[in-house]
Order: sequence, then C-alpha cells, then structure tokens
Amino acid sequence: MKNIRIVLPLVLFWAISSIGQNTGIIPQPLSVDLKEGKYIITSNTPIIADSPNQQNASYLQELLKVEYQKELKIKRKGGKGIILTLDPGLAQKLGEEGYVLKVANSAISISAGTSTGVFYGIMSLRQLIGEDSDNGNLSISGISIEDGPRFSWRAFMLDESRYFKGTEQVKKLLDQMALLKMNVFHWHLTDDQGWRLEIKKYPKLTEIGSFRNNSQIGGWDSAERSNTPHSGYYTQEEIKDIIAYANERQITIIPEIEMPGHASAAIAAYPWLGTIGEIKEVPTVFGKLPDSFNVSDPRVYEFLENVLSEVMELFPSNIIHIGGDEVKFDAWKSSVEIQNFIKENGLTSPADLHIFFTNKISNYLNQNGHRMMGWNEILGENVHEWQEATDMEVKKSLAKNTLVHFWKGNLDLISKAVHDGYDIVNSYHEYTYLDYSYKSIPLEKSYSFDPIPEGLEERFHDKVIGSGCQMWGEWIPEAIDMDKMVFPRLAAYAEVGWTSKTRKDYSVFRSNLDRLLIRWRGQGISLPMNFEKAKFEEKK
Ligand code: ACM
Repeated sequence: MKNIRIVLPLVLFWAISSIGQNTGIIPQPLSVDLKEGKYIITSNTPIIADSPNQQNASYLQELLKVEYQKELKIKRKGGKGIILTLDPGLAQKLGEEGYVLKVANSAISISAGTSTGVFYGIMSLRQLIGEDSDNGNLSISGISIEDGPRFSWRAFMLDESRYFKGTEQVKKLLDQMALLKMNVFHWHLTDDQGWRLEIKKYPKLTEIGSFRNNSQIGGWDSAERSNTPHSGYYTQEEIKDIIAYANERQITIIPEIEMPGHASAAIAAYPWLGTIGEIKEVPTVFGKLPDSFNVSDPRVYEFLENVLSEVMELFPSNIIHIGGDEVKFDAWKSSVEIQNFIKENGLTSPADLHIFFTNKISNYLNQNGHRMMGWNEILGENVHEWQEATDMEVKKSLAKNTLVHFWKGNLDLISKAVHDGYDIVNSYHEYTYLDYSYKSIPLEKSYSFDPIPEGLEERFHDKVIGSGCQMWGEWIPEAIDMDKMVFPRLAAYAEVGWTSKTRKDYSVFRSNLDRLLIRWRGQGISLPMNFEKAKFEEKK
C-alpha cells in the first residue's frame, strides 16, 4: 500500500512529463524532452548574443527587468549564460520560424535559422521561468525543445473603425500576440462608422470621417443610442511608432482599407465617392449599410490609388487587405451611371462589376510590388442569403495572386478556391469571431478549429496558409470588455495556428492555460467569469 501511494503519483508524473507537454508553454511546441538539472538565472548571468541577435538580446534583457527585476548584461561572446545564436541549417529542419531551446545546468541556449526563430525561443523561455523561493533567483528546469509552426499566417484582427481603442490597447495586444507567437496583426482601420488613419492627401477622411455624433447600442435592431459622440484616429507618425513596436515583436501589420462597400465614413468625408448621394455624416448605426463607392467614376479610382499609395508607403507589409465583404448591390442597381458602366464594360451583374473593380485594385497593388487580400465575397460566390441570385452571375474571375480571406462559406467553396489556385486564410466566423459570445464560441470550440477543413483534398492543404481570429467592435466600446472577449480565446487561436495537429490536446492546453491566466491577471487584463460554456448559439 505504502509503495503504491508513492509510486503511483510518480508514475503518473512520469507519464505526463515524458510526453513533455505540461510545460506551461502555449502554443504547445513540436517536441519537448524533459532533462535532469536546472539553470538558475541570477543578476550575474550574461546574455550572450551574436550580432544578428542583438535586438533579441535587448528584448530579453528588458523582459527580465520588467517581469522579474533582474538586470542582466549583454555580451557578444564567450562563457556561460543565456546564449542566443543563429544556426542557418536549422531553418531547413524547423522552418524559418523554428528554434531549438536547451536548458541545462551550465547554460540556456536558443538557436534558430533566423532571428525570428530565436525570438520565439525567448517567448518559450519566458513561459518556463519559475521563481526559486529560497533566494529570489529565477529557476528553469532542464529541458530540450525543438519547435516550429504548423502555419505561417497566425493572425489577430482588431476592428477600430467601430470604436477607436488607441495606441496603448494596441500595444498591449501586440505584447500578448508576441508571447503566443502570433505573427500577423490585421488592422481593420476603415469602415462605415469611422476612418481611423491619417491620409495626407485627403485630410477630410479624418477631419470628418473619424467622428460620429452618436452610436447605436443594444444590438443590431435596437433603437437605443449612446447619445455621446465618438471619434479618434492615428496620425501617420503614430502608425510608424506602432509598426516599429510590432516589428520588434516579429509581428507584421496588415492594414485593411475597406472597398467598395463598408465605405460610408469615407463617403461622408468626400460625398462624390458615393453612388446614391445620401450620406451626410458618418453613420451612427451598425450593420450592412446601403451605399458603396461609385466604381464607374474615374475620380474614385484615382482617390483609392492615392490612398493605397500612402498606405503602401507607410506599412512595410507587401500585402494589403481591401475588405470587399458584404457589398449591398441596391445602390449600384439604382444608379444609371453604374448600369451604363456595366454595359460598356461587357459585365453581367453587380457581382461581375465587383470582381472587375477588385481586379483593377489588385493590378494597381501588383504594379507597386504588393499583393491584395480580401474577404471571400471578392470571388463572386453568393455567400449571403440576402443577395439575389441574378445579381451574382459572373463571367469575370478574380486575379489569381489574390490572398482570399474566408469567413463565410463551406468546404465546397474553399475547395473550389484552392483548386482554382488561390491561397487562402481561413477565419471561418462560427469558430473564430471574438465578438461572438462564449455561449456561441466557448474556449474549447475556439481550440477545436482546424484551418484546414475536414474533407479538403490533401494536395491542397498547403494552399491554406493559416488562420485569423477577429475582434469586431460594434457592441464593444470599452477596452475592458474587449479584453474579456479576446482573453483567453487568443491563446486557443495561437495554438490553432502554431501547434502541429498531432500535438494538439485540449486538456493539456487547458492545464497549461492556468499559468497564463495568472500572468494575465497579474498584468491587469480583464478575464471573463466563464469561458467554458459548451452550448453553441449562432449570433451573427
Ligand atoms: C465580415 O465579418 N464582414 C468579414
């Protein structure tokens, strides 16, 4: 009896630890081997970094100072300590973002084929650090990790058009994305209810387009209003500061400039951009609004090209998201100008015109060394019950190098898109929309999302380059409420994007999450009371 009481827990501990998963690291690494011994970080431990890893060394130094009040020195060469090195051969083995992390009595070493990989090794190390209660030093148990991501696109989207959140909140999100090895910040900066990005050539976009008098509250059909104005936008200087901050954290920012629909704030600023001429101010209601850019007017193309030119100049990313979702065709159908334009250009329907327009924008971006991305409506498929079938007859096809962002539609549509040669990012709304309640998308459902839909032919799997999770803002004016929607589901989406299918395990994730919840609480991040409700309920 006595023996069993001692041996059984040890066997259980061995069984769990030998599969190497309960390390506290999220997202779960590719392979983990627990080792004997431990490394103790003291104030005398140096960070030893080769020249490509100087930025990583400074980042680690800052982290240890802020999170653990340990001030370490950085050295270029020699001895024992926390060693950061580039090993180009590892990129072949573990991919551009992969890394090897080893913790032994004598040293901690992080090596990778790229400095991005080393950064991710540091993010794993952060999650392994425990405090030695005896002396206040930091203690890390022996371990050997080889890691690399399943997908190259691991995105979080923030909608700031509906409510402007500001630099501090964005930086907080970038910090957490970095910890979780998420690498794309998709920034929804323009929509019907607000234009949030300074464009020098068109100052009214922010003078007029960033301000609205009032806001609908209480849900899609509600007549209730906040009775307070809302405004806010980023200057180009502020955007540059945020880009630099993201860059330090290995995060690419993909700006989204919505067209031809979801454009009312721009039309309020420059009414000649619109088709029906009825928008007098930035809308105060949410939902799908009727007007769209008048895509028969050459001035509209000139405007969009000028805007995109500033956007390309500002953002280092070579991908620009142009939205393209939920275009209501009634405005175009009621316009004689648009109807003539459709005939003159041999187009068959409003959806055909939508593709024609999108391809012109794609051409412009391509000519300037960029690639276009858009929501999957730009393929011209009917994904909305409110669209009339006759409006959807298309002859045109979308430019092939477009990155198609799926949020609606089933396996057939994804299969068709990849079969036709498109790369896709899968953000299927029923699994990845962070504005949906925990009742609709409990944590385990977020975790269960597979960007490669079941049934997709294996030869097309690499056409799915990853996934995104989306924080839409219509009903979430305050950052504190937004945090409760984002955390802890962000951690689940991080694992969806990073962790190999064979290593995904909800119960292990859930137990690792406990440590992260403590970290988040300690940082003042608001967490929901109950994120594990199991019942599914459709919202949007
Ligand atoms: C979307 O949710 N309209 C992309």
